[in-house]
Amino acid sequence: MSAYKIEEHFYDVVVVGAGGAGLRATLGMAEQGLKTACVTKVFPTRSHTVAAQGGIAASLSNMGPDHWQWHMYDTVKGSDWLGDTDAMEYLAREAPKAVYELEHYGVPFSRTEDGRIYQRPFGGHTTEFGEGPPVQRTCAAADRTGHAMLHTLYGQSLKQKAEFYIEYFATDLIMSEDGVCQGVLAWKLDDGTLHLFSAKMVVLATGGYGRAYFSATSAHTCTGDGNGMIARAGLPLQDMEFVQFHPTGIYGAGCLITEGARGEGGYLTNSEGERFMERYAPTYKDLASRDVVSRCMTMEIREGRGVGPNKDHIHLNLSHLPPETLALRLPGISESARVFAGVDVTKEPIPVLSTVHYNMGGIPTNYWGEVLNADAENPTRVAPGLMAVGEAACASVHGANRLGSNSLIDLVVFGRAAAIRAGQVVDPQAPNPTLNKASVDKAVERFDRFRNLDGAIPTAELRLEMQKTMQANAAVFRTEEVLAEGVSEMGKVAAKMGDLQVTDRSLIWNSDLMETLELDNLMPCALTTINGALARKESRGAHAREDYSERDDENWRKHTLAWVTDTKVALDYRPVVTEPLTKLEEGGIDLKKIAPKARVY
Ligand code: FUM
Repeated sequence: MSAYKIEEHFYDVVVVGAGGAGLRATLGMAEQGLKTACVTKVFPTRSHTVAAQGGIAASLSNMGPDHWQWHMYDTVKGSDWLGDTDAMEYLAREAPKAVYELEHYGVPFSRTEDGRIYQRPFGGHTTEFGEGPPVQRTCAAADRTGHAMLHTLYGQSLKQKAEFYIEYFATDLIMSEDGVCQGVLAWKLDDGTLHLFSAKMVVLATGGYGRAYFSATSAHTCTGDGNGMIARAGLPLQDMEFVQFHPTGIYGAGCLITEGARGEGGYLTNSEGERFMERYAPTYKDLASRDVVSRCMTMEIREGRGVGPNKDHIHLNLSHLPPETLALRLPGISESARVFAGVDVTKEPIPVLSTVHYNMGGIPTNYWGEVLNADAENPTRVAPGLMAVGEAACASVHGANRLGSNSLIDLVVFGRAAAIRAGQVVDPQAPNPTLNKASVDKAVERFDRFRNLDGAIPTAELRLEMQKTMQANAAVFRTEEVLAEGVSEMGKVAAKMGDLQVTDRSLIWNSDLMETLELDNLMPCALTTINGALARKESRGAHAREDYSERDDENWRKHTLAWVTDTKVALDYRPVVTEPLTKLEEGGIDLKKIAPKARVY
């Protein structure tokens, strides 16, 4: 492939992605003296973490009593008992430390009267192992928490001399013959050159794949790039059927109205003006977990109690809140409501609808962020040289449903954990691996093939077909019939990839080619999501089967593993980790407290 100018780079660690997880990992690696590069397709502070509003969960007890064990209990229950116990313990225990680190790095958190970090209530976060009132656990920087975190972490990473390759699109992993990750190939968008990064450790922090759906709160850049690279490397994706719908996307526009709005006292109403969540979740009402609220909203609409001329959405009411609270705690969403819904939140309700928001599934990892090349016989086998963190990864702390504000904490706890682990396993003195030529050639050939695609279908057209299929066939409620149709339709959609037409052959700022490569990453995400959902014959967390309406722990308390070959998906399963990190007598949680039971709010 001599037609391409390829520049080589050598690092101890290459992090792909510069959202909250990628930056926290980059910073941690650099702090440990590892020569670290961060390769990112967008400017770091434009990564999708910038859109995170409501906050970051940690049991700081600033607003009342809290405990890491209560946080862990809520996370276990939120996950509908599909999360891994060791990873959930690690998250809840390390969360306060990770937040105080952020504070010391300079994140401008909102403050209480006495100067401590302000915390607000969020859905599914409670006290006394779910027996007490809601807890104020979500640390916030007004409703722009992700924005505040990204700017701080980027600045700190620069201070630690991490090197950034900005607007470089990583296309493929470079793998040795025996399955060790050796680096990545990336395309520099502004001059068209290709770049080979040789690394002793590659960390995928590429975010979620919300854009596999038609309506999502995710940025257009959330195209599952790491997941696509993993699938092409022949490694499995995990629990992809679990897709979170956020209850309050702005009707029509889809952009996020933070759950913090309900945390500050907002509530949902139907066409009769009824606060319907009181019927479905008598204890926690509008602060039940997200999957529950999204399903209740869908049921209200289905039963004819939606609002608007088409009775197809719900109202979120904030106008009863003091204007000072709206201005101080919720300035960002007040503006979003005005811009995207034409609503003055001090006077009118916001029209909202459940919208795709988060992928619980992703690249399987252990709680150190090491990628698992798992199957039923080898459930914890590590893929050498490879880590994944953030929404791209599945650690698995969120199981079948993530609690609001557990995402930002996941980013920093596991970004930090990956750095700690890399400090143990990466030797700065060791030579860089010699890149496997066959793997390099394959990656360059794929790039060249996509660049020269000369079929009949524009990329945007096929992407829309995929998005509409996923929206129609893998939504909040699912049945065998609808999913089976979706599997068949998605197979046909994916089979058209070879007939795509890339009209721009240039290499500089070629958004046609970039979007085509992104679509090729989204495709395995969509296929594994819908195939996993068809196979899973139970309801758990965000996966609500109308034909299998109960959770079935005996047969289905296990993680789905999915491999993609062309348009075909092969499935296998691995057990959920039920062992904690710490024994009860050494200060761990009482396992009886987190034993599976009915999940009611
Ligand atoms: O509603 C929100 O602010 C979103 C938070 C989250 O997804 O964690």
